[in-house]
Amino acid sequence: MTSPLHIAGEYPSTRLRRNRRSDWSRRLVCENRLSVDDLIWPVFVCEGQQTKSEIESMPGVYRYSIDCVTEPVRKAAELGIPAIALFPATPAELKTPGGEESLNPENLMCKAVRAIKQAEIEIGIICDVALDPYTSHGQDGLLVNGEVVNDESVEILAQQAVVQAQAGCDIIAPSDMMDGRIGEIRDALDSSGFQHVQIMSYAAKYASAFYGPFRDAVGSAGSLGSGDKRTYQMDPANSQEAFREVAFDLLEGADMVMVKPGMPYLDIISHIKQAFAVPVFAYQVSGEYAMLMAAAEKGWLDREKVMLESLLAFKRAGADGILTYFAIDVAQKLREANQ
Ligand code: PBG
Repeated sequence: MTSPLHIAGEYPSTRLRRNRRSDWSRRLVCENRLSVDDLIWPVFVCEGQQTKSEIESMPGVYRYSIDCVTEPVRKAAELGIPAIALFPATPAELKTPGGEESLNPENLMCKAVRAIKQAEIEIGIICDVALDPYTSHGQDGLLVNGEVVNDESVEILAQQAVVQAQAGCDIIAPSDMMDGRIGEIRDALDSSGFQHVQIMSYAAKYASAFYGPFRDAVGSAGSLGSGDKRTYQMDPANSQEAFREVAFDLLEGADMVMVKPGMPYLDIISHIKQAFAVPVFAYQVSGEYAMLMAAAEKGWLDREKVMLESLLAFKRAGADGILTYFAIDVAQKLREANQ
């Protein structure tokens, strides 16, 4: 095949600026576009009533009590956002070493799912599967002699997924990075009559410092203390390893895969999309949001422009969709632009 570089002419007969001269021409040759259909909105829920509390390190992002969550979710649906991803801020007194609250059908996550379903809002609900919002040590799995054990954790995670499916969850999203959990979760869902429930696997999830504000939001930062998640989340130095992670999850039954964090890992998104040709999602995580917002608040960056540019970059890398705390704002912007 002739390389595209050979097809291209040379200056001065070829001038790449010609296509960029006017707005209509730039639109004509535009390769990637962000649409509302690409957005997934992460939503934090908390105990209490009539509560909407802002997360300090994530300006504009709130934890909603169950009675307050349906309104913003309805707004998301009306804007055309296809799905939300729920995360619970479990009260500290309900956190235990074994994370038993994760299996409580009356936990925050399940109550939120039921409230949204009962309100008959047309939107997909994604539930995070991992133990960190429920464990007193803040790890995603069970801790035995200082080590996060795999198989015992997977057993609970599979039960957690079933509990969430029973509450009405549409997509199970395991974010724990234990080995073999997708297969076990698929089996557990299937044998409980939930063959139709999808699995979006956090397949290539890195041990990143960009999750800091999220851990504040769900209150797991204090529990984790000086601990880290490097024995199960991926080493930021690795890219080939991501192929094995994704391959295993797909073989085990994942319907779609995710790369996380987002912006510092666009190379991984691109490799995975090209190699596997399956739906690939990216998570623009809390630290990325916090970073852009902080600079915007200082007047150092144009908030709206960096928001749209950063999300478009995911599309260019090959992502089919993006989990982003900007989802509502972006959906509104896109709607205004189309009017
Ligand atoms: C829980 C989980 C985390 C995030 C999503 N699910 C945090 C972590 O693994 O420590 C991070 C999301 C974000 O930073 O926005 N396993």
